[in-house]
Amino acid sequence: MCGIVGYFGYRDAAPLLIEGLSKLEYRGYDSAGVAVLNDKGIDVSKCKGRLANLEARLESKPIEGHIGIGHTRWATHGEPSDVNSHPHCDCDITISVVHNGIIENYMKLREWLTSKGYEFLSETDTEVIPNLIDFYYEGNLLEAVMKSVSMMEGSYAIGVVCSKEPDKLVAVRKDSPLIVGLGEKESFIASDIPAVLNHTRDIYLLEDKEFVVLSSQGVNIFDEHGEELHKEIYKVTWNADAAEKGGYEDFMLKEIHEQPKAIKDTMTSRVISKEEISLDKITITKEYLDNVDRIYVVACGTAYHAGLVGKYAIEKLAKLQVEVDVASEFRYRDPIITDRTLIIVVSQSGETADTLAVLREGKKKGARVLAITNVVGSSVSREAHDVLYTWAGPEIAVASTKAYVTQLIAFYIVALRFAELKNTISQEELELLKEELYRLPALAQETLKHQDVLQRFAYNTYTEKDMYFLGRGMDYAVSLEGSLKLKEISYIHSDAYAGGELKHGPIALIEKGTVVIALVTQNTLLDKMVSNIKEVVTRGAKVMAITLEGNDDIEKTADSVLYLPKIHELLTPVLAVIPLQLLAYYMAKQKGCDVDKPRNLAKSVTVE
Ligand code: G6P
Repeated sequence: MCGIVGYFGYRDAAPLLIEGLSKLEYRGYDSAGVAVLNDKGIDVSKCKGRLANLEARLESKPIEGHIGIGHTRWATHGEPSDVNSHPHCDCDITISVVHNGIIENYMKLREWLTSKGYEFLSETDTEVIPNLIDFYYEGNLLEAVMKSVSMMEGSYAIGVVCSKEPDKLVAVRKDSPLIVGLGEKESFIASDIPAVLNHTRDIYLLEDKEFVVLSSQGVNIFDEHGEELHKEIYKVTWNADAAEKGGYEDFMLKEIHEQPKAIKDTMTSRVISKEEISLDKITITKEYLDNVDRIYVVACGTAYHAGLVGKYAIEKLAKLQVEVDVASEFRYRDPIITDRTLIIVVSQSGETADTLAVLREGKKKGARVLAITNVVGSSVSREAHDVLYTWAGPEIAVASTKAYVTQLIAFYIVALRFAELKNTISQEELELLKEELYRLPALAQETLKHQDVLQRFAYNTYTEKDMYFLGRGMDYAVSLEGSLKLKEISYIHSDAYAGGELKHGPIALIEKGTVVIALVTQNTLLDKMVSNIKEVVTRGAKVMAITLEGNDDIEKTADSVLYLPKIHELLTPVLAVIPLQLLAYYMAKQKGCDVDKPRNLAKSVTVE
């Protein structure tokens, strides 16, 4: 999730751009840059790393001018580096662009522009934009931006300056945030309101496909047909801290709510109806899979829990046997690894020490390593043979939520592709699963509506000392994640058990009033789970069941039932985890815990 700022006015642009970018640091970034218009043309300064690096550069080589654009980059296409940092320019540096989002058809556009003589310096999708604008430029920047945007597929918020029109800054958005700040004889664009709050509280909230022109005439907004629009000014009444969290009380809650988009982004360009599933640049073939002797999925914490679901998906769809292990155990148990072994490592940060050690050891012993990670340019992404990125955007809360659901989506994509290659899935089933995957973002949104019920549940139970989660099959894997979330942020002791294990010990813990969350989304195991619920209810437990719509009979057994929208049995973990995340969140809030920064925990564990 990159950050964009732009300034048009009478003051020195560079320091204002840096200040604005510093307010967007919370979005996560790995490089930063600015471009400023002046008498000489466009001056660009950009580099990998923290904003402080850019500031140091600007101190030693200041750039002057009153109009400019700035950017903090969260790498997607191309690793974090000076050259991949924004702003990007056209070949003769007359147009400069900052961009947030993903241009899905950038390869086609790049090839087409190359055939017209354009040259590219970076690996980014963004670099096609200034060149496209240059191609269409006939003396009117706004028109050239409009034409270029009509060629672009994907999501974007862009800010553009052009040395041939030094009195203008043009911006537009689609599916990526962009606002306009209105000052006295000056104006701003930004990805988010905090970037401009030191200067103005008067804001235009841009909608998709609205174009804005900042100039000495003021701020003008146009629709995609060039018709001028008159928008209402939104007056900001809250403080910057709240704004960074998008109005949510905590990053964790914001990230929980970002899941529908994260799911959609992770599927984008990989699952396309009637086309083969795409694993990006991964070249695993049928011959390779036929020859594989074993598949390990190795990870830590929440990523390990995603791996447990991944095992079900790969075994069920591709009929390949998968073993899942936590990285810290795997690395010391002398696992059998040959040059026919495939190791799938999963890591949000791509920097977890134990996971990285497994990757390195696996490679040394000849295994092929496929990484599922959220951070482009991370150690895991650089060192693995193959990488499938989750497009969750930066995750700031220590407790992982949106990274987990995108890891599940990545596993479904891998499982479906392997099944396609191995011919273990019929065309009908494949199409059905694709359709079901497409439904997930909307159904995840629907599932978020349970938050009021879960908040009430938390209000009634937050003083509990212990809590138990039960599930079978994939529900057991999700129960483990629900239990981890609860203990991580609310410090309530909790455990998750496979329903069938209840009689082998855990049931001894059940007494009058014990709270049990039972997951019942696997229809083939429904009756068995209902029996488990009966067993604990008989011993006095208070049970909340989470099941799919239509399973009303469970109401006869459980104390309360929360219904998830109906979805293919294999995909239920994506929805079932959402109430568990919200439950943990509200329990922690009731107890007054610091939800985003739980005690003793770190977001990225880079030491053993
Ligand atoms: C830490 C984090 C967890 C995360 C785990 C693995 O414990 O607090 O949220 O699941 O590390 O991290 P990774 O970045 O490898 O997914």
